[in-house]
Amino acid sequence: MRMAGTEETFVIRGGTALHGEIAIHGSKNAATKVLVATLLTAEPCVIDNVPFSDDVGITRELCERIGSSVVCGDDHSCTIATSEIRETSVLRLSRRNRIPILAMGPLLARRGEAEVPFLGGDPIGHRPIDFHLEALTRMGAVIERRAHSYFATTRRLTGADIRFPFPSVGATESVLLAAVLADGVTRIENAAMEPEVQNLIGMLTAMGARIAYEPAARYLEITGVTRLSGARHRVIPDRNEIVSFAIAALATGGDLVLRGAEAVPLAAFAEALDQMGGRITEEEGGLRVAPGGAWRSISVETAPHPGFMTDWQQPLAVLLTQARGTSILHETVYEDRLGYLKDLGRMGARVAVSDECPEGRPCRFASRTFNHTARITGPAALRGVATTITDIRAGMAHVIAALSAEGESVISGVSHIDRGYEKLDERLRALGANIRRIKHKTQ
Ligand code: EPU
Repeated sequence: MRMAGTEETFVIRGGTALHGEIAIHGSKNAATKVLVATLLTAEPCVIDNVPFSDDVGITRELCERIGSSVVCGDDHSCTIATSEIRETSVLRLSRRNRIPILAMGPLLARRGEAEVPFLGGDPIGHRPIDFHLEALTRMGAVIERRAHSYFATTRRLTGADIRFPFPSVGATESVLLAAVLADGVTRIENAAMEPEVQNLIGMLTAMGARIAYEPAARYLEITGVTRLSGARHRVIPDRNEIVSFAIAALATGGDLVLRGAEAVPLAAFAEALDQMGGRITEEEGGLRVAPGGAWRSISVETAPHPGFMTDWQQPLAVLLTQARGTSILHETVYEDRLGYLKDLGRMGARVAVSDECPEGRPCRFASRTFNHTARITGPAALRGVATTITDIRAGMAHVIAALSAEGESVISGVSHIDRGYEKLDERLRALGANIRRIKHKTQ
């Protein structure tokens, strides 16, 4: 956890292969939503496998400001109880991450009023919240845009038929969190079906919500109930940690056992790795990754689940710099998520980005001017440089590149990585990495 008035930097000396075993923590993108779900009941809830990354800390602060008492143990279990909603305005958490908008449903359901700040999070595209606001409006919320916030009121939330233009994870979660206590039935078409969304559905169902869903059809049907109870729920393993650590090992020429990792939610990653010549195998209590020989170039397109996740393309790009030939990376979820490749270029990667979709693979960014396609030619020798990172997954790509590069890298902006990964440096060191965290005083 960062202290006020300090900034932190990683100093990494590359060239050591990572080996051994790592325990995978709970998913921050599931845990943060499950914590918000506990606001829907006055009864205590117990959440197991909560990762202690900074985004979870910000979400805990959000809940506490609203009125929750939260007690977390070293075993990563948290008990959270919100007997009373004391505060419906959470403005002071302005712009730190994207979770406050999700509190709108629970606050409207329990108090009929909510004020949330404009959202923060990673600079990876425009990231509007129009789907959230339109859906909640259809459900009976009256939402006013103020200078620094959205202020919403309702007499009673009611079920509605909603069709998203794109299967947004956050908007699907917003509607779920609003619909479980609404009057009547809410139907969502083109819903996001990420494992993290399904984990939230598991929590809400354990609390007494009535939710039916068909993942393959991207269809959700929620029948509102009048009250929800406390529940005990386990957060799923973090798919981003699994892929990040797996690629960190492979890019350094090592291999790794990922304790607690599950194969099914990683199918698209396993397929890409298999095409490149790597191996991911199940073993008791986890997964093992190992290189298969020389890396082969591939074409990858990011997509909503069950497709190849947009949060995986950054670590993968580092491995692609080591593959023979030209790989294509087509980002179709966020319009501006390839900026980090410029710094990989400074490290020696051969990378070209363009606003054109690969032939035969047009996406919703076709004929726009977003640089969302990358061609990466390898193998290229990487060398250490100084970089400043601006988002979680791009930050992880820089860490992996630095671990596999020759010489020393200095990575500033570590607070972005700490939002998504708990004690990343300590855990990498345990696998053999040469990584130090340096604290500097700021003005
Ligand atoms: N979108 C809209 N309008 C909306 C909502 C989304 O146009 O109202 C667009 C977005 O601009 C984007 C696309 O829909 O182009 C998908 O966005 P989505 O809503 O699915 O993303 P999110 O809920 O804001 C979560 C994760 C991201 C992850 C994406 C996709 C959290 C806190 N964040 O974001 O994780 O990349 O889903 O799976 O759960 C990360 O952890 O580093 C991260 C960025």
